[in-house]
Amino acid sequence: MSAPNTRQLVAGMVGGGPGADIGKTHRYAMRLDGHYDLRAGIFGRDPGSSREIAAGLGIPEDRNYADIRDMARAEAAREDGLDLVVVATPNDSHFTIARTFLEKGISVVCEKPLTQDSATAAELVRIAGENNAILAVPHCYSAYAMVRQAARMVRNGELGSIRFVDVEHASGWAATALEELDHKQAKWRTDPDVAGFPSVVGDLGTHAFHLLRYITGLEAERLSGRLQTFVPNRRVFDNATVELELTGNVPARVWASMAATGHNHGLRIRVYGEKGSLEWQHEDPHHLKVQDLAGAATILTHGLSTLHDDASRLTRVGLGHPEGFLEAFANFYSDLAEVLRARRDSTPLPERELSFPTGIDGLIGVQFVEAVAASHHDDSAWKVPAFALEKSVPEQSALKQSAPEQSALKKAVA
Ligand SMILES: NC(=O)c1ccc[n+]([C@@H]2O[C@H](COP(=O)([O-])OP(=O)(O)OC[C@H]3O[C@@H](n4cnc5c(N)ncnc54)[C@H](O)[C@@H]3O)[C@@H](O)[C@H]2O)c1
Repeated sequence: MSAPNTRQLVAGMVGGGPGADIGKTHRYAMRLDGHYDLRAGIFGRDPGSSREIAAGLGIPEDRNYADIRDMARAEAAREDGLDLVVVATPNDSHFTIARTFLEKGISVVCEKPLTQDSATAAELVRIAGENNAILAVPHCYSAYAMVRQAARMVRNGELGSIRFVDVEHASGWAATALEELDHKQAKWRTDPDVAGFPSVVGDLGTHAFHLLRYITGLEAERLSGRLQTFVPNRRVFDNATVELELTGNVPARVWASMAATGHNHGLRIRVYGEKGSLEWQHEDPHHLKVQDLAGAATILTHGLSTLHDDASRLTRVGLGHPEGFLEAFANFYSDLAEVLRARRDSTPLPERELSFPTGIDGLIGVQFVEAVAASHHDDSAWKVPAFALEKSVPEQSALKQSAPEQSALKKAVA
């Protein structure tokens, strides 16, 4: 029997140039568990800065590219070419970049929102499938240990049947006109050509909506949305409230804002069942508050030996030691690495439920944005999102990756 392949997965990146926000988080997270070796990339639009960053990261000169087509072609032809490329650029370029690599059979982690419209998002899902490539979307909040605990508790029926879900990603980061101060991230997030008019829904609403779907396992059957612009002269919507009816007529509420004055990150979810409720907040990610019918509260803590395996397996440094955003991102990358390795080495896939969000989850996010915008334009009329019309969520969604249900993914990674 041949020895198992221990070679690291070879990763590339497009984006993450000087002063960029999320690219460096991807780089830190990929290093944390040692699964990936970053060997190629285009680190921003400016070739000079891209070269500097590549040199600092130890990337060989000939693998610091100037053009995505050259990068995809050259990497696909190399024996030690990319197993994965990370797309960490603003939203308007996701489709072209992701497509270029997927068409060459290179798996892609593409930032959210996956694309600017559901036709192109569906196209990416199709191209990934046709080329036996994995498409993943880093809705990283679902990779926190205590979120996995919450999802497992709901699946196990520990709250009883779900009655109501309330989720908000209401941040105050752009409660003033930062875009007028030349703030890099605010500039493109308030440009409708790059971020779309419902900018805050794509940016923060998709995270909140994914968290809701992930923890409850429920899908939106219909929704009614209302969009506002709080900051004068802003060209996109910076606040959104959405009422939803989930599977089984369960009511839910999503609030997404980048202008929630005074809030920091502002991500919080509360799930109410017939036997109890739970609450998780991103700014206190170590704790999951569970309350019973009588109102008694139990605070579950990251690292406790009594957590479900879905959560306890994600503890690196043990009870009492803080872990956070980078570790959650690393959890996403570690789960993805298991699938990429199985694909590369023809080894069995891990039998694991509650894994990483896929292109299908990204597509559902884009369809959510479209449904909210359509509802707003029709005076908040109830709309049926495209994924509910299609009636079944395709198998590659993270929510569908329970052990007996992995056949589609197995096919995609065979
Ligand atoms: N998952 C998360 O938690 C999370 C958090 C923040 C941002 N994001 C998403 O990540 C993406 C990037 O956001 P950001 O805040 O880091 O943006 P940013 O403006 O800070 O950085 C974008 C980087 O991409 C580079 N870039 C742009 N077009 C390029 C191209 N064609 N080729 C190569 N490089 C290019 C820019 O030069 C810059 O270095 C967005 O889609 C955003 O929605 C996700």
